[in-house]
Amino acid sequence: MAARGGFSSRIGFIAAAAGSAVGLGNIWQFPYVAGQNGGAAFLLIYVFWIFLIGFPIMLGEITLGRSAQANPYGAYKKYGGKVWGLVGLFGILSGVMILSFYNVVSGWAFGYFLETAFGNLLEEENFSTFFGDYVADFSDNLWFSFGFMAITAVIVLQGVKKGIEGSAKILMPALFVILIGIIIYGLMLPGAMEGVKFYLLPDFSLINGATIYSALGQAFFSLSLGMGGLITYGSYLSKKENIVSSATLVAIADTLVAFLAGLMIFPLVFSQGQSPSEGPGLVFVALPGIFQAMGPILGKVIGSSFFLLLCFAALTSTISLLEVAVAYFIDERKWPRRKAVLVMAFLIFLIGIPSMLGYGAVQSLTSFTFYEGTPKSFMDLIQDLFSVVALPLGGFLLSLFIATRWTTAKFSEEISHGTTNYKGSFLEGFLNIMIKFVCPVVLGFMFVLTV
Ligand code: PFF
Repeated sequence: MAARGGFSSRIGFIAAAAGSAVGLGNIWQFPYVAGQNGGAAFLLIYVFWIFLIGFPIMLGEITLGRSAQANPYGAYKKYGGKVWGLVGLFGILSGVMILSFYNVVSGWAFGYFLETAFGNLLEEENFSTFFGDYVADFSDNLWFSFGFMAITAVIVLQGVKKGIEGSAKILMPALFVILIGIIIYGLMLPGAMEGVKFYLLPDFSLINGATIYSALGQAFFSLSLGMGGLITYGSYLSKKENIVSSATLVAIADTLVAFLAGLMIFPLVFSQGQSPSEGPGLVFVALPGIFQAMGPILGKVIGSSFFLLLCFAALTSTISLLEVAVAYFIDERKWPRRKAVLVMAFLIFLIGIPSMLGYGAVQSLTSFTFYEGTPKSFMDLIQDLFSVVALPLGGFLLSLFIATRWTTAKFSEEISHGTTNYKGSFLEGFLNIMIKFVCPVVLGFMFVLTV
């Protein structure tokens, strides 16, 4: 049997899990979603969900993985039989589908980095038209997504310790340095404080049922929960490590980066008098205009640093998404890592092709009507099914599994390895109640509301 591999240290696990969590969800999505939904008011609700639901689910995934020493399918099957195994398989499938479109957006970031650093992006006249043409160009999409998937595959090929842990230990600190650097620069610009005010003064009038739900979805996506990513990473973690403190650091790092991404973007946006509610185009349309206004040299430096940051964030996430499927084939089908990585990376790249085509290249994929409602692009549709719906559903099923099958006693037992005084503590009681009652009820209710 191929060796499963494992992290060499607690820091390695934390860097890799934080790398999985910190991604496009934090830097691309969070600022514009928060910007449109009440700024700090949204942030507060987001933090509430992270700690109330996200944290217990995160612990649930890590403990299940570490206890079973297996991929999501193997872990559910080991303690719950074949039918529960299907829940693990569904998680793996969600990861595959998420990676298929996530890699396309990562390809855009990669292309923008190359165009900013080595090309003439900043000489364009209309960034909105440029972005529209760029995403509609099939060959650009194909090459950049292929390139990004190839980089991901090369790292995952190196295995858990050398590839996943080794790359995260370099990419995560680099990401922080670039992020802090751009924030400091942005805050010194005239008009920056208006951006800080816009971002940080809460506007509760924009909060309603839909925003509360979208904050929960954002929390799940951002922490990489609900598809077994942390079951897989947990299975590489040693029994000696303290899961509670590691998970706390991961949740804090993820929330911090999302928060800081807003603090980086809004001062830049306001310093150029641009609209803060640009939506998904905030990063690809508004920011290039801002870099352009900085002048040719500074614009190139800050602009390419920004897109490099986006690529680093995306890369540690695509690595974790690919590893979930790879772990399944290594554990269950006894494939060598090399074969599992090459086959899955190529297959997922191919599955991403309709998502690439849905931005103008093929009309029928641009507005796909799968169910009643507004037509969506193929990518939005896949994102709705496998991220917005599937991740909270995966969290619901995990908590149900722990509550009814694996038991909170085992959950608690697994956490207690590597901790002192956990058994009988307030924290133990709190987490057991959360995972057994609060998570299934809240997530089940939310699921019913979405479908
Ligand atoms: N957490 C990543 C982000 O915020 O961009 C996205 C993600 C990665 C979701 C890995 C799910 C996953 F398993």
